[in-house]
Amino acid sequence: MSESGNSSERGFSRRKLLSAAGLLSLASFAGGALFRHVSSSVRVDVDSFTTAGSGHSKNILVVTGSGRSGGNSILLADAFIKGARLAGHAVDVFHSARTPMGACLHCGGCWTAGTPCVIKDSFDAFYPKLEEAELLVLCSPLYWYNFSGHLKCVLDRLYPYSQKNRLRDLKVREAMLLMCGESHFLRSFAGPAEAYRQMLGHARWKDRGRLFVTGVDDLGAMVGNEALRTAEKMGQEA
Ligand SMILES: Cc1cc2nc3c(=O)[nH]c(=O)nc-3n(C[C@H](O)[C@H](O)[C@H](O)COP(=O)(O)O)c2cc1C
Repeated sequence: MSESGNSSERGFSRRKLLSAAGLLSLASFAGGALFRHVSSSVRVDVDSFTTAGSGHSKNILVVTGSGRSGGNSILLADAFIKGARLAGHAVDVFHSARTPMGACLHCGGCWTAGTPCVIKDSFDAFYPKLEEAELLVLCSPLYWYNFSGHLKCVLDRLYPYSQKNRLRDLKVREAMLLMCGESHFLRSFAGPAEAYRQMLGHARWKDRGRLFVTGVDDLGAMVGNEALRTAEKMGQEA
């Protein structure tokens, strides 16, 4: 998605859609160490890791949210996975846009059939992976200043695990967020950054890191980007 205009302010930069929540979010992550890397074409902003990894190998589930094979966020996920596997972690991946999952219907059917959800779709293949995971890595392109719809559906379908009648608890204790978008402005990620922050609090997951990559749009724009090294390092330090 792009709009015409001054090339220095192209893309989404001109739209004044930054919410109060976004401002709060920006303020919160500006409070941490913010590392800014500049390359010739793309600015990469990386929020600080909040904690070091435990050093033990763990089960990691990476959930991607792009339908583009070889897409920019998929390349971030691949780099993360490479690093995590090198460090000895067991990594599984779920490409939510390749086997789309429906939205939560809030139907009250959670666990009533013995399974977390009564909707029959790719959630059936997803939840066994989810139930093994200790670290959940969300990886999404920025769509309308938010997670992609595919990833959002996955997040909504975690609902059964917060219900009183749940038969099992998740083992997830930590999370990471990897995102990229066309916008050249870090503030464009404020919405999902704040949603992620609130999610961590609600689920009591520890934030293990966030990576926001600005200025990538075309398929392959991420190739050679220093953000891939950052993502790989995040995997190694997971
Ligand atoms: C439906 C749609 C909505 C988008 N919305 C935004 C947006 O709000 N802000 C932005 O910077 N880029 C937006 N983009 C651009 C993508 O974030 C960008 O192309 C990204 O690199 C795609 O990642 P992928 O290759 O992993 O799919 C949008 C793209 C699509 C298809």
